Amino acid sequence: MNHQELNQTAVAMVADNKGLLAADESTGTMGKRMDAIGVENTEDNRRDYREFMFRAPGIGEYISGVILFDETIRQKAADGTPLVKIMQDAGIIPGIKVDAGAKPLPGAPGETITEGLDGLPARVDEYYKLGARFAKWRAVIDITDEAPTSHAIHTNAHALARYAKICQEGGLCPIVEPEVLMDGNHDIETCQEVTEGVLNAVFGELYAQEVMLEGMILKPNMVIAGKKCPTQAGHQQVADMTVQTLKRCVPAAVPGIMFLSGGQSEEDATVHLDLMNAGYDLPWGLSFSYGRALQASALSTWSGKAENVAAAQAAFIERAAANSKACAGTYGKAA
Ligand code: 13P
Repeated sequence: MNHQELNQTAVAMVADNKGLLAADESTGTMGKRMDAIGVENTEDNRRDYREFMFRAPGIGEYISGVILFDETIRQKAADGTPLVKIMQDAGIIPGIKVDAGAKPLPGAPGETITEGLDGLPARVDEYYKLGARFAKWRAVIDITDEAPTSHAIHTNAHALARYAKICQEGGLCPIVEPEVLMDGNHDIETCQEVTEGVLNAVFGELYAQEVMLEGMILKPNMVIAGKKCPTQAGHQQVADMTVQTLKRCVPAAVPGIMFLSGGQSEEDATVHLDLMNAGYDLPWGLSFSYGRALQASALSTWSGKAENVAAAQAAFIERAAANSKACAGTYGKAA
């Protein structure tokens, strides 16, 4: 295991007020995104969409790395240039989603376990050769009246640590992503309690399996009420309770925490990150690894039309630049 390389990758991912673009939607998830704009979900359309983001002028000022799906890391641009080369030329580190998705967890109705450990060492070796330097694995924890169970929390924490150790052995810096969903009607206090239980279980497993904390990135949810909760917390409360939870649970040895957006609006995701970086002295870099909160405007502006590419690139860069300011705590648009 090359400790120095792993640490350098983790530090570079979160340095200079930059963050990650999560463009690792599976083919099925891309189908939903394409449906929403009336575009057919073909390999070429997926390529064209991602290519224009990777080629957006100035992307390297705000984006340190892109999380790719298996199809994309192997794809070539319309002019034949490998997409990975376009990223590398812009100073962006390619990363790869290596999990095989959340599947029903035996013995826990309605809950899931993320699969993909079988054959993972060989896939990590191949992705490294294809240019990837970091990886992602997402565990999904839902809050309902019955969930999460301790069974779901502990099996997912165990799998996350197994994945992280395999990646480190193969030279990929693991993004450890335990996502507590914001889909339910739970309040923010419940989200905080569940998130703390999940993070404690995850860091317990990372310790037990000797994952090197200096060579990983944590990708958590923010502490936030469920979308169907009648009482929504304000921006400052979300920022305060999220920082409180992270300080309680995440060792200072972890170089970076890079949030998922999880269904927040583009603006909310930026404002929350900004308030955390503006208001606190934090031991880790605190940044973004957004999917929807970086892409929503760009996707609808594009709508599958070549003549809209420049405007869609501008919409993407606007969000990337706003989130980069939020990493510095200088976005300053809190309501
Ligand atoms: P969202 O920011 O849309 O939640 O996506 C981030 C991600 O990579 C989820 O796994």
